[in-house]
This record gives sequence, C-alpha cells and structure tokens, in this order.
Amino acid sequence: MNIVLLGAPGAGKGTQAEKMIEAWGLPHISTGDILRKAVADGTPLGIQAKQFMDAGELVPDVVVIGLVKSRLDEPDAEKGFILDGFPRTDGQAEALDHELGAADRAIDAAISIDVDRDVIVRRLTSRRTCRSCGKIYSLIADPPADPNVCDACGGELYQRDDDTEATVRNRLAVYDRSTAPLVEYYRSKGVLHVIDGDRPVDEVFADVRRIVEG
Ligand code: AP5
Ligand code: MG
Repeated sequence: MNIVLLGAPGAGKGTQAEKMIEAWGLPHISTGDILRKAVADGTPLGIQAKQFMDAGELVPDVVVIGLVKSRLDEPDAEKGFILDGFPRTDGQAEALDHELGAADRAIDAAISIDVDRDVIVRRLTSRRTCRSCGKIYSLIADPPADPNVCDACGGELYQRDDDTEATVRNRLAVYDRSTAPLVEYYRSKGVLHVIDGDRPVDEVFADVRRIVEG
C-alpha cells in the first residue's frame, strides 16, 4: 500500500508512522528525517537545507523532489511506503503522481491527521527525539523515564531546533499556505481520509488501521 500522511506540524505523523512500521513493516520515508540527518552529517544538502528548516520555511521543491524520487527507486519501496511530510506543495504532489504514474503506481490512501493549533504548540515545545534511534517522546503525553535518555535504546534525547514557539507558529503559517490545499487535492482523487488526531495515540492508530486494512 502506498500511503501519504498529511497533517500540520505536530499532528502526529511521525508517531503514527512508528506504529505503522511496527504493524506492516512498510518503509517510512520522512523528508524531515532525511533532511535532519543531512544537517547533522554536514553534507552539502544539509548545509543548504538548514537555513530553511531553522526558519520554519520549506526547502525548495527541486531539492526535496529529487530526494524522494531516489528513495522511491530503492527496492524496499516496491512493496509500498509511508510518505511522511511529503508532498507539501502542489508541485511536490504533481511530481509524485508523475513519478508513480510512470511505474503504473498511485497513492492508495492520503491520511490527514487533524489537531487544533493550541494543542500543537504545546505538543511541539514538549517533544523530545532520540538522536540514535529517532524514537519520538512527549514530556507530557509519553514521558521517558529520564528526560534526557531514550527508554528504547539509551540514546540521547534532544529538542529539535525548529520546535521553538516562534518557529512553530511560522511552520503552521507555511502549512496553511502551502500544504493544507493538498487535502482537497487528495479528496478530488478519492483517496482522502481525515482522522481526529487529538486523542490518545492508540485510538488514532485504530483509525489508521481501519483505513489500511480496509
Ligand atoms: P518535518 O520533520 O516533516 O516536520 P513537520 O511536518 O513540521 O512535522 P513534525 O515532525 O514536527 O510533527 P509530526 O506530525 O511528525 O508529529 P510527531 O509525531 O513528532 O519537517 C521539518 C522541516 O523540514 C520543515 O519545516 C521544512 O523546512 C523541511 N521539510 C520537510 N519535508 C519537506 C518537504 N516535503 N518540502 C520542503 N521542506 C520540507 O508528534 C509531535 C509531538 O506530539 C511528539 O512529542 C509526540 O510524542 C506527541 N504526540 C503525537 N501524537 C500524539 C497524540 N495522539 N496525543 C498526544 N501527544 C501526541
Ligand atoms: Mg515528524
């Protein structure tokens, strides 16, 4: 199954993707994760992307589309994939359809996770992520035993540079301007599912499961 996870920053895309990987073993393609790794590794891509990410702006389409195209060409993506944080603009959505269409493939489900803005700001300023295994925590909803240490692998937990309140507000404005219209794009293709993300993680995942397993 080829799945797109839509939703504002902090809606819970990464959290649901973790559960989807566990349930179905689909490859998780998160453009945010790929870009953060490039920044951490100091590659030319990372150096280019960092200024946009720190400001809460989108990295240019041409860069991100190239990344996703090459990732989709890897053999593990043949059996399906979870796209998290891509597409985010009309241009990205069209490029994705074009790329998939050329291989006789298509998006089977676009799952849009809905959460109120105030909840999102609270969630993002209390998010911690493991530097080693990438596991996502919430100091409020899902606190680790030690706020600095990953329960799963013992790695260091860190706060993302773009999770300050001012940057979160800009990411939300960018989302409204550039990404929210994609909800209608996928609705018009008949593959959109909207779910309420302001419930416990497992309840949200029960909806995801119903969509994926039919
Ligand atoms: P990206 O990494 O994609 O960030 P985002 O879309 O802003 O989304 P987040 O990762 O912040 O939130 P999430 O929905 O994954 O929520 P999570 O599960 O972590 O992008 C970052 C940047 O990279 C962009 O700003 C841009 O610069 C660049 N970029 C990336 N893709 C791009 C693209 N395609 N084009 C151009 N630029 C691109 O959950 C958040 C918190 O809430 C966690 O603490 C979690 O524990 C908690 N939580 C989750 N679910 C629940 C729940 N049900 N109840 C309570 N708490 C919950
Ligand atoms: Mg994420």
